[in-house]
Amino acid sequence: RRHSSGSESEPEEESRSSEEEKEEQKEEIEKASDSGLNAAEKPEESIKKTATNQQAVPSATVCQTASNKPSCKPAVFIPVDRAPEIQEARLKLPILAEEQSIMEAINENPVVVICGETGSGKTTQVPQFLYEAGYTSSTGAIGITEPRRVAAVSMSQRVAKEMNLSRRVVSYQIRYEGNVTDETQIKFMTDGVLLKEIQKDFLLSKYKVVIIDEAHERSMYTDILIGLLSRIVPLREKKGLPLKLIIMSATLRVEDFTENKRLFSAVPPVIQVDARQFPVTIHFNKKTPLDDYSGECFRKVCKIHRMLPSGGILVFLTGQAEVHSLCRRLRKAFPFQKNNTAGDDDKEESVEEIRKFKKSRKRKKAMTLPKIDLDNYSVIPVDEGDEDRDAETDDDVAGSDLDLDLGDADSEEDSSLPLYVLPLYSLLAPEKQAKVFRPPPPGTRLCVVATNVAETSLTIPGIKYVVDCGKVKKRFYDKITGVSSFRVTWTSQASANQRAGRAGRTEPGHCYRLYSSAVFMDFEQFSAPEITKRPVEDLILQMKALNIEKVKCKIDFVLRHSLKCLSIGTRNKHKFEQQTAKLSCPISPLGRVMATFPVAPRYAKMLALSRQHDCLPYTITIVSAMTVRELFEEYDRPAVSEEETAKLKGKKARLLQMQRIWAGQGLLQKLGDLMVMLGAVGACEYAGCTPKFCEENGLRYKAMLEIRRLRGQLTTAVNSVCSDAGLYIDPKMKPPTEAQATYLRQIVLAGLGDHVARRVQAEELLDDKWKNAYKTALLDEPVFIHPSSILFKQLPEFVVYQEIVETTKLYMKGVSAVEPEWIPVLLPSYCHFGKPLENPPPSYCPETGRIRCHRPSVFYRVSWQLPAVEVD
Ligand code: CDP
Ligand code: MG
Repeated sequence: RRHSSGSESEPEEESRSSEEEKEEQKEEIEKASDSGLNAAEKPEESIKKTATNQQAVPSATVCQTASNKPSCKPAVFIPVDRAPEIQEARLKLPILAEEQSIMEAINENPVVVICGETGSGKTTQVPQFLYEAGYTSSTGAIGITEPRRVAAVSMSQRVAKEMNLSRRVVSYQIRYEGNVTDETQIKFMTDGVLLKEIQKDFLLSKYKVVIIDEAHERSMYTDILIGLLSRIVPLREKKGLPLKLIIMSATLRVEDFTENKRLFSAVPPVIQVDARQFPVTIHFNKKTPLDDYSGECFRKVCKIHRMLPSGGILVFLTGQAEVHSLCRRLRKAFPFQKNNTAGDDDKEESVEEIRKFKKSRKRKKAMTLPKIDLDNYSVIPVDEGDEDRDAETDDDVAGSDLDLDLGDADSEEDSSLPLYVLPLYSLLAPEKQAKVFRPPPPGTRLCVVATNVAETSLTIPGIKYVVDCGKVKKRFYDKITGVSSFRVTWTSQASANQRAGRAGRTEPGHCYRLYSSAVFMDFEQFSAPEITKRPVEDLILQMKALNIEKVKCKIDFVLRHSLKCLSIGTRNKHKFEQQTAKLSCPISPLGRVMATFPVAPRYAKMLALSRQHDCLPYTITIVSAMTVRELFEEYDRPAVSEEETAKLKGKKARLLQMQRIWAGQGLLQKLGDLMVMLGAVGACEYAGCTPKFCEENGLRYKAMLEIRRLRGQLTTAVNSVCSDAGLYIDPKMKPPTEAQATYLRQIVLAGLGDHVARRVQAEELLDDKWKNAYKTALLDEPVFIHPSSILFKQLPEFVVYQEIVETTKLYMKGVSAVEPEWIPVLLPSYCHFGKPLENPPPSYCPETGRIRCHRPSVFYRVSWQLPAVEVD
């Protein structure tokens, strides 16, 4: 095993000589008077500081910008009545030593950047400093944005508790849920929520201070927010209602914010909080394990627990299913007392859900959907920023859970000290999350199995050992096919170092990296800002809804890198130019409605169009099912025995039979795979959505639960957008009528406009590889209808597809048939309108591919070599 010292593990001198301290303090005072700060002007802060923090060492590096403006510091001091044990714990936080420098910088500058190691107290303390210094009043609040819901909820709870204030005063707001009141003075929210607020009130007039937390994560909405706030701050200044902007980061890599001249006119001061960080010894694996990093984690935790002295263990994995699976294995290996509640809390979610569902059914006979657990909601493709940055929901349907339990390392079972195993991930209910902050029961060792939510958002006390699998689950957006998916990849060096740092918060620690140092050297230095990896359309739409027409220049600081990526990523340069051209045209009324739905523009468009003909419940179901994706079991896997082969074959036959039934008759069939989705969801709900029904009919139970949850959330969202919709979903949907199925095909076509494909006609066949192939707008290669599609044999002339997957060939999944004459009506921007023909053909003609409609004078040709079609 190689040992090497972590870069961040330099031991900080624990005791400074008093001379040094005095010297520094003197310097500090001189610095303060140099920059025109008179200590006497801030008696309350000086008093507070000496009263509360005896060991304070003012070591902040404050780059003061010479500012002769009068201080806009409020003149009041609001006392806070904290419990003694809270106060004691606060005093140990490194940020308390910087309170004065922070407040001075904030008083003197409109924008301030605060950098400090995770756990130094930024999130919990800075809002308190501001509150005490009188930055809140009846006319203005402090707003703090977090990229993760879990942080918004748990930090608001923590701050309310520390300040001994009611949740009516210290509140939170996440996507559809929150406890904000008229009295709220400190408001934690996700970055997406603030973005929506800017949409309603560009000047954010209800805030006196906005804090952007976790800016180092470079989440898309955080980046956009900083871009917008850089414009809002001077506007507020002009109005005489100054707004303070505080950017907080766990790393020192803030030059994108400070050194970009176009962003802030004056370079904002950067305050660095010197967190006490104990040395962390890094141990690399000699070899990098292949795929079973979860099994490797298990073995490593077993070893640590059996061989090393006391101290908490923190394991980093990539998603919820992995976390649960490892928790189960560890609990089995080191059993905790029977009947212990801590042990039960992550029993199969599904069991829990069934129980809840049954209970709610009993309570309410004529039930619609089970009551939505708003704390527990999951990813909708692109929402207002409440998306889980650790993307757990995806693996609920990806089946990784099943794979992981196969390896049998449980032979290392041991009956040493019980291990107090706790899961931690974004979607975990807040009361379960709170457990990690409490000391473990006496005589046990704490072991937290977490996703990257424990990297910087939450600090877990008492961790001495970190086990880092080195992987992270990320959303990848394929710019060609427009499909995003979650993939597990290596993390960045910066993230790996953050993870290691978690071991040295309270004493020297160890970090076990389950990969070799050579692999580490190949990691990216930093993760790329999210904005460079996300589709631009939703960004553009959001911006336009904010009435920001010249999107490009407003967000250029974040796009500095990404514009380049975009033009490279978009194979078709022309398309890229179109995209940027779109930036300068005004938003349409439909666009405005779309922007109010908390889903990606494609889906928002479908929803916005679905109020007609009572299509909303179906569209909601289709959007939910598309989001969850893998609805059906996969039976094409290699079997170990002949018996199993036969079993799989039987199951597959059953599924195919059911799919044919769900596909319906007549016009319903043309809705294709989407009709199968609707049928499957309807049938499953009709049967009460039991694991048994799913098992027997080839449905993935977890996917079905997920769809139900999403349907509930989307219904709530739609009801809140269209207050008159009064939508009431019967989970046991009636099948759509033939007319509705036809409307639905149009709605889907309108939403997935660039996902149209045309079958290549016999006379166009260039060579055999185009046989039965389709031509799409985005690819030059032939694509095919996936063999699992219900339309596989029918080969409609025009189809719209949900996604393209690449296996042996490029396959379209989620396919519906569309009528060619709909295209120019629903997607005019995708069509060229050519000169009228002199003698229009009388009707559809296979040679030319033309169709005659009612008004023969207008012809169109879809811009990507579709046949010309005559249209009304
Ligand atoms: O934001 P930053 O990472 O700088 O630190 P923080 O989240 O403000 O946390 C400061 C301290 O509060 C940490 O030592 C946490 O362990 C502690 N804390 C806690 O004990 N319980 C919570 N619910 C939240 C934080
Ligand atoms: Mg924090």
